[in-house]
Amino acid sequence: MAVGGGTELLAEIERQRRQIARLAGELERSRQEAARLQAQLLAREREAAETALQLERYAADLRETFKQERARAAELRQSYVATVRSLAGAVEARDAYTARHAERVAEYAMEIARALGTDIAEAPGTEFGFLLHDIGKVAIPDAILHKAGRLSDEERALMKRHPVIGAEIIAGIDFLGEAAKVVRSHHERWDGSGYPDGLSGSRIPLAARVFAVADVLDALTTERPYRRPSQLSQAREMILAAAGTHFDPEVVEAFATLDEQVLERIRRGAPSP
Ligand SMILES: [Fe+2]
Repeated sequence: MAVGGGTELLAEIERQRRQIARLAGELERSRQEAARLQAQLLAREREAAETALQLERYAADLRETFKQERARAAELRQSYVATVRSLAGAVEARDAYTARHAERVAEYAMEIARALGTDIAEAPGTEFGFLLHDIGKVAIPDAILHKAGRLSDEERALMKRHPVIGAEIIAGIDFLGEAAKVVRSHHERWDGSGYPDGLSGSRIPLAARVFAVADVLDALTTERPYRRPSQLSQAREMILAAAGTHFDPEVVEAFATLDEQVLERIRRGAPSP
């Protein structure tokens, strides 16, 4: 019995030992599996970090390129503005009475365009058109341009060609495509009685309708050889009275909302704050 009991005990110990050995084997395999997974995870993490770094570098490159593009576009726009201003200046240099007229009228017109709430104020061509509106006058002889008395019918007819001549002068310049519309149509009237095309209502380009108000405002409020300038308040009344005949009523409505102090600052030629 004692011997039989000893044998069973040995067998039991042997079973236990084998189980322990099996468990140890399993544990080792699990450990190896864990190590493999950990290595795999590490490799993936390294890959992800590398990808993130690459993306970061790519984003920085894009940011830099974008910044350079923006700077180049701003530079280009500046040179466009300088070119347009010097062209406008060349037209005005011939007529002392219109000194700074283009700059002022462009400023009034930009204020009205902004008050109107459409996107014409954002389009660069709009301001260029305002500045260059009378560029066609370069083709009008001094004797007519500076004539003190009344113009003959023939002279008047030639004078009235300046919008068409102006639009032709800048026709081949890509960045002045929109501006050419203002140049051609800046003497059109809402009721169709203007020139050169006798357009009426919304057939007149919006920027030209805006310009018409600014142009008359400037003409009324500046000194001319034959009359004293009107007060801004008087000029405003005259413009309001011409809504629906000379001017687009909606443009006049936008003009009426402008602060008189802003108009006065432009009239004096003071820089914007
Ligand atoms: Fe004109």
